[in-house]
Amino acid sequence: MSDKPRVLVARKTFPDIVERLRAHFEVETNEGEESWPQEELIRRLQGKQGVYVAGTEKIDAPLLKACPELKAVCTMAVGYNNIDVPACTLRGVLVSNAPDVLTETTADFGFALMMAAARRLAESEHCLRSGEWKQWSVTMFAGSDIHGATLGILGMGRIGQAIARRGRLGFGMNVLYHNRSRLAPEQEAPLAARWVEKDELLRQADHLVIVVPYSPSSHHMVGARELSLMKPSATLTNIARGGVVDDAALAEALAANRIAAAGLDVFEGEPAVHPGLLAVRNVVLTPHIASASIPTRRAMSNLAVDNLIAALTGGTPPTALNPEVLSARRH
Ligand code: GLV
Repeated sequence: MSDKPRVLVARKTFPDIVERLRAHFEVETNEGEESWPQEELIRRLQGKQGVYVAGTEKIDAPLLKACPELKAVCTMAVGYNNIDVPACTLRGVLVSNAPDVLTETTADFGFALMMAAARRLAESEHCLRSGEWKQWSVTMFAGSDIHGATLGILGMGRIGQAIARRGRLGFGMNVLYHNRSRLAPEQEAPLAARWVEKDELLRQADHLVIVVPYSPSSHHMVGARELSLMKPSATLTNIARGGVVDDAALAEALAANRIAAAGLDVFEGEPAVHPGLLAVRNVVLTPHIASASIPTRRAMSNLAVDNLIAALTGGTPPTALNPEVLSARRH
């Protein structure tokens, strides 16, 4: 066996990007389309120093305990709620994610979902495909406008700001946002963006777009109470994480037309989808693909590989989440 470090690529990715790892490491890959069950992941991690994951692998304290040789966990996702970063830090395991490279692609998709919900794209297509379209009428699938409407952004990080730019500069929307911290005035000014309290955002938004990371504090941040504050004509788009929205409460609100429509790319307990959401027509459902353009998925994978190579060869990983682990290693 060679004395190169050993890494596991736990989710299938582009072959030429895996080749970059082979120049430095002994590499084992998952060639299937599915993630491995936890016991298999742990078994395959034995003797490995690094792992490339996506948002689908759970890296928690029991896994870390069972894989004592692990030194680096690099995810190709920007969200890292599947990784217990403090537990990794405690064990001296470097963690990195993949921010920035997916911002514009994800914002494009969020905007597309919002527009699809507002203009009833999915339900009208369903009607046509299923042969239900018999005649034209003046109100048939009449929805709401995007241009000139009030865009409410919950979570004004990089992706939230990219959506705000599209709304303001492309569609003349009035931009409101709620975030733990306010943007600097020079960031707000070009977007004419205004910070408001969360309840105010819910009351005023014509189109609410949710882009907050998942954490215990954002669990069910939008539930029955919050939905009841929204306009009956409003739409809700979630491209953040399942669990930020209470899907059961949302399904009820959509069924009762308490809000007009929703666009959802993420779900609680995905790939399972709440049956109530599958039963209503005024929702556009996509399988967690907001960052899925080929160039962006390549950029995300390359960034995870850059991090993995740097972490295990004495370099500086470009997007480490706990860089203090490396300084501790060097001392
Ligand atoms: C996708 O959901 C990501 O976090 O990159």
